[in-house]
Amino acid sequence: MIFNEPRVPLQGAYTLSALRELVSSWRLSHNTVALVPTMGNLHEGHLSLMRRARDFADKVVCSIFVNPTQFGPTEDFAAYPRSLVEDEALLADQGLVDLVFAPENKDIYPFGIDNTVRLGMPELSMELCGANRSGHFSGVASVVLRLLNLVSPDVLVLGEKDYQQLILLKRMIRDLHLPIQVSSGAIYRESDGLAMSTRNQYLSTHERKIAPRLHEELKKVGEALQAGQQDYHALEQAAINTLEAVGFKSEYVEVRRTIDLGKPDNMNSPKDLIVVAAAWLGRARLIDNIQL
Ligand code: PAJ
Repeated sequence: MIFNEPRVPLQGAYTLSALRELVSSWRLSHNTVALVPTMGNLHEGHLSLMRRARDFADKVVCSIFVNPTQFGPTEDFAAYPRSLVEDEALLADQGLVDLVFAPENKDIYPFGIDNTVRLGMPELSMELCGANRSGHFSGVASVVLRLLNLVSPDVLVLGEKDYQQLILLKRMIRDLHLPIQVSSGAIYRESDGLAMSTRNQYLSTHERKIAPRLHEELKKVGEALQAGQQDYHALEQAAINTLEAVGFKSEYVEVRRTIDLGKPDNMNSPKDLIVVAAAWLGRARLIDNIQL
C-alpha cells in the first residue's frame, strides 16, 4: 500500500490499519473520497477514470489487485500482466491519485481464497459474459465489496467498457444498502476504435490489425437499430457471422436494454438500447459495447 500526494514521489508502505487511519483523517478534514478499483497494468482507460474521480471527490484512491476469485480455473490469472512498479511510477508522475492501495491476497482474503465468503449474484451474472465465466461476477462483487469496506469511499468510479460488471456492481450497492454513489466513465479507445484493455497485449501484430472490427460491427448494429430495424436476432447474427469470417470466435453479440441489460422488446426505443459483445481473437478475449 503506497501513500502519494499529487506530484510528490511515492512514499512508504502501509498496513490496512494505516489505510483506515489515513481515510479517517481525510474524513475528519471533511474530504470526500473516490475509489477507482483496477487490476493494474494501467492504460489510458484506467487513467481517464481517475481523472473523472477527481471531479467527484477531494481524495482519489486507486486500488491495484489482480483478484484471484474472479478468474476461472482455465483462465489467465497466472499470465495476467502485472506491472505494479511501473503503475505506481505512472500514477506518481501524473499526480492523479492520493493513494495507491495495492493489497496482497492475505489482506483481501484473510482466510484464503478456497474457503472464503463469496457473494451470490442475481441472474444477470449467469448471462452474457457470465454464461462462459461461471463465478466470475461473484468473484468481482466479492472483491469490490471488500475494497469498499476497507476504503469506505463516497464514490465508486467504474468504466463502461465492462458494462455488465457496472450494472451488477450498481445492483450490489443498492441491494446491500451501501451508502456509495457510482459514477461511470465512457470507453476509452485507441485511435482505430479498439477499446483499450490490458488483454490487448495478447494480440499478435496480425490480430491487432483485425481487432477494431469488433467495434466496427457493433457500430453497424447500432446504426441499423437507429434506422429503425427491430429484428435484433438478425442483426446480432449478421455481426457474429462477419466477426467469425474475419477470424474472431464470437461468444455473443446481443442487443440489450441499457438500463439493466435486460432483453428488450420492440417497445424499446433505440435510445434505450446497448449492443454488447465478447469475442476471442487468438489468445485475447475482447469485450466491447455501443450505447445508442
Ligand atoms: P480492470 O480490468 O483493471 O478495470 C478497472 C476499471 O477500468 C474497470 O471499471 C473497467 O471497466 C475500467 N476500464 C477498463 N478498460 C477501460 C477503457 N478502455 N475505458 C474506460 N474504462 C476502462 O474491471 C476490473 O479491473 C476488475 O474486475 C475490478 C473491478 C478491479 C475487480 O477486480
